[in-house]
Parts: sequence; C-alpha cells; structure tokens
Amino acid sequence: MRHFLNTADWTRSELQAMIDDARAMKAAPIGDALKDKTVALLFLNNSLRTRTSFDVGARQLGAHAVVLSPSGGMWPLEFEDGAVMDGEAEEHVKEAAAVLSRYCDLIGVRAFPKFVDWSEDRKDKILNAFAKYATVPVVNMETITHPCQEMAHVMALQERFDADDLGALDGKKFLLTWTYHPKPLNTAVANSALMIAAKFGMKSTLLCPTKDYILDERYMDQAQKDAAANGCEVTVTHDIDEAYDGADVVYAKSWGALPFFGNWEPEKPIRDAHKHFIVDEEKMRKTNNALVSHCLPMRRNVKMTDAVFDGPTCIAYEEAENRLHVQKAIMKALVRG
Ligand code: CP
Repeated sequence: MRHFLNTADWTRSELQAMIDDARAMKAAPIGDALKDKTVALLFLNNSLRTRTSFDVGARQLGAHAVVLSPSGGMWPLEFEDGAVMDGEAEEHVKEAAAVLSRYCDLIGVRAFPKFVDWSEDRKDKILNAFAKYATVPVVNMETITHPCQEMAHVMALQERFDADDLGALDGKKFLLTWTYHPKPLNTAVANSALMIAAKFGMKSTLLCPTKDYILDERYMDQAQKDAAANGCEVTVTHDIDEAYDGADVVYAKSWGALPFFGNWEPEKPIRDAHKHFIVDEEKMRKTNNALVSHCLPMRRNVKMTDAVFDGPTCIAYEEAENRLHVQKAIMKALVRG
C-alpha cells in the first residue's frame, strides 16, 4: 500500500503515468473505477477547489465521499503520541485513522501549519500520523506541501506546450516568484512548485525579496537533487529583471519568511516594502511570452494584475480544472494499486 504524501516519494515516470490517466479521464470523465468505494476527506482548514474536486472526482468514478471538518461536528483530535489527553481533544488520531480505515478505502488530509514554530510544523505531524495509523492509503490535500496542485500544474503546462511530447517541459525556464500578500502564508505551494519544476526537467529560478524568503532546505535540496538529475540547476535571485528575462513559465505565490515564523511583526515592513513584486504586464513583457499561473485563491491586483490574470497566457483555470482529473488518477492508483 502506498500513500500520496509528497511527489518526492514518486518517480517522474510514476507521476507521468497518473497525469496520462488524468488526461484520459478529462476526455471521458464518468467511469466505475472506484465503484462502491468510499473516501474520507478530512479538512482542518478552509477549501473551495480541493474539497469540491475530490468530492466530485470520487463520485464521477462511482465512489462516495464523506467530508469531515471540525466545524462540521468532528471530535477535536490529538496528534501527539503519548499525550495526556486532558485538554480540548476528545479523540486520538490513532483511533480516528484506524476507525476511518474500517469504513473507507482512502483518507485525504488537509492540515496547514499552525504558524507558531516552523521546527514543529515542518514535521508535518498530522499528515504523518494519519499515514502511520491508517490501514488505507492517505492523500495529502495540502499540509506543508501541496502535491495535488503540483500535478495539476504540470498537466496544464504539458497541455499548453505539447501534450504529446513527454519531454516538452525539459529545459524550459521556470520562474517561481514570491508576491506580496498582507498576511504571511503557507509555503506549501511554493515548496511543491519548485520540486515539480525540477523533477520535470525545467531550469528553475526562485525570485524572492531577501534571503529570508528562501524555502526550507528540505525542499530546496530536493529540487536541486532532481534538477541535477535532469542536467539543470535551481537558482535563487532577488533581481526581478534577471528573473523574468526569457522565462517560459511564471508561477506566482506568496509565503511567509521562515526566520520570522511565529514572530511576524518584524517581517511586516519587509513584506510591505516589496509590493512591487506583483506579476504585471511590464514584467511579463520581459519573458518568452510565458505561461503564467497561480494555485488560487488569489488576491487580484495584489499578487497579479487583472490584465495578466485575464490574459491569454494565464493557465490558472486550466490548472484548477486539472485538480479534478489528476486527483481521480491519484485515487485510482492508490486504491486499485
Ligand atoms: N488551490 C487550492 O488548494 O484551493 P483551495 O484552498 O480552495 O482548496
């Protein structure tokens, strides 16, 4: 039995096989590959796309989806091994995962960081606890990485560049750019974007305001390792002109600087000084007519201008749609083996 926790656990060819299956299901969405199966979708955080696309995708394949969330009446959960449960939590993840495994064929988990202590959040305790105690496959629906989003992004890029050429992304210049947001956000999508770009052979650049916005070394190192295997490298720059020059893909995301994790007040002046990192037409003119995307939700005219987002090179809606198709492929691969 395998889980889908992080794309680093899967080879490029395994991921490509799931994307190929997703393309087939995009052409013919209704099937019975998961007939009479049940999936539990546990949301500890808000969602529009993930919740809807997993539920719809399960139903399109003949499965039933049960959506669970604390606001929907679920018991508060404890995740620490050996905890003395005299606080708010009524149930331990050991029981929750074991019992859900007896009702369901797959468990999806969304659990964002608590944003207090990165050394704790980077352990991804909630996801890993479900993976440890469940006896059915577990899917990461976004914790400190967002592997389903990565897969949808690559699928959208392949469709636009050349859907019939599996090497179409090799050597393309991929730019992951930090953008302003009034609040410090999760690094999950940024971690994932950099890893998948490197895994699929793109020459990747991380553009961010200062060195404090460089991502966790675990994901930087994984991206460097995958890039090296593809004869590429990952570069970091704080120079906007250099980063956009000749880019084939621009991926926009905001995130909080890890050295200020849980102590955000001193980060605010730095972030406020970099509102000009917005993706706009002037910057996009420096690119190689780049495709541009964002995982959504996105604050318009803060992270990206209307003109760019609503323009012909933006593939954010395609990427969002592809969440449905790739997640169906992931569920199939995990449940059917
Ligand atoms: N991109 C994404 O995961 O969207 P939601 O947070 O709405 O699920």
